Amino acid sequence: MKTLDSYNFSGKRALIRVDFNVPLNSKFEITDDTRMKATLPTISKILKDGGSCVLMSHLGRPKGGPEDKYSLKHLVGPLSIMLGVSVKFADDCIGDSAKEMADSLQPGEVLLLENLRFYKEEEKGDVAFAEKLSKLGDVYVNDAFGTAHRAHASTAVIAQFFTDKVCGYVMQAELDNAQRVLDNADRPFTAIMGGAKISDKILIIEKLLDSVDNLIIGGGMSYTFTKAQGGNIGKSLLEADKQELALELLEKAKAKGVQVYLPVDNVISDGFSNDANRQIVATGEIPDDWEGLDIGPETIALFSDVLSKSKTILWNGPMGVFEFPNFAIGTNAIADVVVKATEDNGAFSLIGGGDSASAVNNAGYGDRVSYVSTGGGALLEYMEGKVLPGVAALD
Ligand code: 3PG
Ligand code: MG
Repeated sequence: MKTLDSYNFSGKRALIRVDFNVPLNSKFEITDDTRMKATLPTISKILKDGGSCVLMSHLGRPKGGPEDKYSLKHLVGPLSIMLGVSVKFADDCIGDSAKEMADSLQPGEVLLLENLRFYKEEEKGDVAFAEKLSKLGDVYVNDAFGTAHRAHASTAVIAQFFTDKVCGYVMQAELDNAQRVLDNADRPFTAIMGGAKISDKILIIEKLLDSVDNLIIGGGMSYTFTKAQGGNIGKSLLEADKQELALELLEKAKAKGVQVYLPVDNVISDGFSNDANRQIVATGEIPDDWEGLDIGPETIALFSDVLSKSKTILWNGPMGVFEFPNFAIGTNAIADVVVKATEDNGAFSLIGGGDSASAVNNAGYGDRVSYVSTGGGALLEYMEGKVLPGVAALD
């Protein structure tokens, strides 16, 4: 795989697949620009070499035609400010006008293309579409780790049309950090898994059982474990058909000598809203009309104790419904203790993308953990041991 540092972009036009799939509010303002900021060093290196950049990305999941709310034009202003370069915009990612704009780019200039997913050919991995895109640059750079698990036209198929294929800085850092945790973790190694569904995390948990010392389970998926063990979970999230699997995972963990920690108390609520009534009960003793929306104080203490003694921490998934401030206490407390373990004990902390990354970034802790991944599904799949099409295409 060619690295960015080993390549001189002088006089070259780089076609860069970035993951600018960022959240926008109703005024089309970016509410978390982490993914854009992450890619700036890649763009800057190319410009500094004397090259130019054509950036391509998807945004959201449009239904296969242009939709204003998914237009990448909303990113042009903020990106120009971040880069200190007035970014040009092509309102179609292929076609004559995109080609003309790309062809007339001068060294130091940046062109952003309209949303790739306005063509259904993108997600289908259409070869002819990929070939059209490929005409927009001399060298292909993939820095879209967050989309590397998709075998789409711009992430994988396009690579066959280039002799020079280069791995961007984000892609490189993501792979290096994931690999460090998988192959080279200082011990004790603790994985803390949360989020709504066991089904999303089953493969990664199974894989991690071979390498972790401790497995902490919180968040929505913990209620399925509790129910499977005979507890009362009221109206809490339940994957009824995954109870058997939950018990099997616990058995496997035991057989491999992995210590598993489940919540011992929960903050429960009589409605799914920030202002619903709340109380704290022991895990497994949730009344019928109530639901668990966060971990409780004893659980925070238990999990904190394990994390503060860990030298490697992998965190994926929130501990509760952290979008509601009243039920974000557990998730924020875990973020605090992960920061402390990193700063005070020199632990290596990798925060898996998606919700846990948002939680850490929203708390202002992005720079105080070892690494916040820009990938959600991509990181999970990579850590499960799957080959990511976007990475394979660079080989
Ligand atoms: C993401 O946000 O997960 C990536 O940008 C990939 O998007 P997708 O899940 O819509 O393919
Ligand atoms: Mg996704």
